[in-house]
Amino acid sequence: MKYAVIGDPISHSLSPIMHNANFEALGMEASYEALHVPINDFHRIREIIEEKQLDGFNITIPHKERIIPYLDEIDEQSRAVGAVNTVKIVNNRWIGYNTDGLGYLTGLKQIYPDVANAYILILGAGGASKGIANELSNYVQPKLTVGNRTMNRFESWNLDINAISLKEAENYLDEFDIIINTTSAGLNDNTESVISLENLSPNSLVSDIVYIPYKTPFLKIAESKGNHIHNGLDMFVYQGAESFKIWTGKQPNIQEMKYAVLKKLQGE
Ligand code: ATR
Repeated sequence: MKYAVIGDPISHSLSPIMHNANFEALGMEASYEALHVPINDFHRIREIIEEKQLDGFNITIPHKERIIPYLDEIDEQSRAVGAVNTVKIVNNRWIGYNTDGLGYLTGLKQIYPDVANAYILILGAGGASKGIANELSNYVQPKLTVGNRTMNRFESWNLDINAISLKEAENYLDEFDIIINTTSAGLNDNTESVISLENLSPNSLVSDIVYIPYKTPFLKIAESKGNHIHNGLDMFVYQGAESFKIWTGKQPNIQEMKYAVLKKLQGE
């Protein structure tokens, strides 16, 4: 069996290390590689993948939306989110899935078992936020709250959520059990937290979907206040685990997947 991840840039992707560690742990004869596909070549994506004779592939930035017109089928979650991160190829038919939201929720449950009853604030209203909100809204009892810098981003949302500004998020912060940052503030040497954490309750879990850096400014501030923090590593591992289940119908070795990524992150 042959798999890959496509994206641009792609050379730093940890997906090959993670999936190959899983194949090895399960004694499977399978391979997973990183394929650099620039936007300008994307119109040839069917050819590129067919040449490689893949059984499935993952899609990462910047192609998660661009892949959709090339699919033969798309699942409900991908349709709702408007983005696909996993394609399964069966008899040359391409079926699109999105495992990011489920990956995030599965990771979150490990450290916050009572997610179903939590009051949750999601910061950001981009593609990543939509995927997570869509998955959480099927599982969590209290209505979700989503805070964003630009309110007109919510116009394309058809989920039943409370949409608030970042200022309101700061003011009502202590009402939430779990606060999830999906914004790109705090990336690329930006040392600012997306919102002030002045009103943070000491009992809240503070979560970020990013794991490089391992602790974003948002997580560092929360940790310095003594809060329990959770980065995006689990989301990455579980989205990969869900892709593997879709491709093979088998249960992955999650521990080996996570260990392989951690080892690489620690430079070993
Ligand atoms: P993704 O698909 O990864 O979610 P995206 O669709 O580009 O990426 O969305 C980025 C999110 O980060 C948006 O919610 C964006 O807010 P706007 O809708 O107001 O642009 C948010 N974001 C990015 N930089 C930010 C910053 N410095 N402060 C606050 N929000 C920021």
